[in-house]
Amino acid sequence: MMITDTIRPLARRLRNHLSSHKLSELSRAVTDEGLTYLSPTKLARMEEALDSVQNIPGDFAEFGVALGGSAILITSQAGDRNFHGFDVFGMIPEPTSEKDDQKSKSRYEKIKSGASRGIDGQQYYGYRDELFFEVKDSFARHGLPVGINGVHLHQGLFEETLPTVPIESLAFVHVDCDWYDPVAYCLREVARKLSPGGVILIDDYHDYGGCRTAVEEFLSGNPDFGFEDGANPVLRRKV
Ligand SMILES: C[S@@+](CC[C@H](N)C(=O)[O-])C[C@H]1O[C@@H](n2cnc3c(N)ncnc32)[C@H](O)[C@@H]1O
Repeated sequence: MMITDTIRPLARRLRNHLSSHKLSELSRAVTDEGLTYLSPTKLARMEEALDSVQNIPGDFAEFGVALGGSAILITSQAGDRNFHGFDVFGMIPEPTSEKDDQKSKSRYEKIKSGASRGIDGQQYYGYRDELFFEVKDSFARHGLPVGINGVHLHQGLFEETLPTVPIESLAFVHVDCDWYDPVAYCLREVARKLSPGGVILIDDYHDYGGCRTAVEEFLSGNPDFGFEDGANPVLRRKV
C-alpha cells in the first residue's frame, strides 16, 4: 500500500471536519460514514434548499442515489411526504451524448476499466454486487427503513423506472447524475410535476460540461424557473 492511500482519506476527513461545523448531525454522520460524495458546502446548500420547501406541496426525489448519503438526508426532511430515490445501483451508464465533455468521458473510461477508487479508499460503489442492499441497510441504520412510511428506492434506468412510479407533484428534487442525457431527461420529466416554489438542486453543473449544457438548455426553454448559483445551483420554480 502506498503512503498516499493512507494520507488521502485522512486529509479528506480533516478537510470535511474543518468545514462541517455548520452542518446538521445527520449530514456529518453520512459524511463520516463515507456515504456521500457531496462536500460539506454542497450538503449545507442542500439543507437550506430543503428548509425552503417545507411549506411547498409535493414529494421529494433524488436521481442518483449511489451509496445513499444525500438520499438519507433528503428523506429525513420529507416528513409525511413520499421520498423516491432512483438509481441503477450498479455501474453508472455511459455518457453517450456529443454534448458530454472529455472530462466526463475520461471519468467513465476510468470507472469502466475497474481502476476507480471509492471514498476513503473503499471499493468503488459501482463495482459492488450488493449495493442496493447496502443502501437499504444504511437507510435502516438511520431510522428510515425502505418500503415503509413513504420511503421508496427504484432500481433501474431512470428512463425505465420513473414512468412506472405514480408521482402527483414534487417539491424538492436532487439531480445528481453527472452526464447530459440523464440530467436533460430528469429536468424535462420533473419540471412538469414541480409545484410553484419547488426546487431542483443540481449537483454537477460546475463539474461536467454535459450537465451544464442540459441545465442551460432547460432554463432557456423554461423561463418560469429561476437560477440561484452556488456549488450546487438551485433551479426554483417561480410562484
Ligand atoms: C454521483 S452518483 C450520486 C451521488 C450521491 N447522490 C451522493 O450523495 O454521493 C451518480 C449516480 O447516478 C446514477 N445514474 C446515472 N445515470 C443514471 C440513469 N440513466 N439511470 C439510473 N441511474 C443513473 C449512477 O449509477 C450513480 O450511482
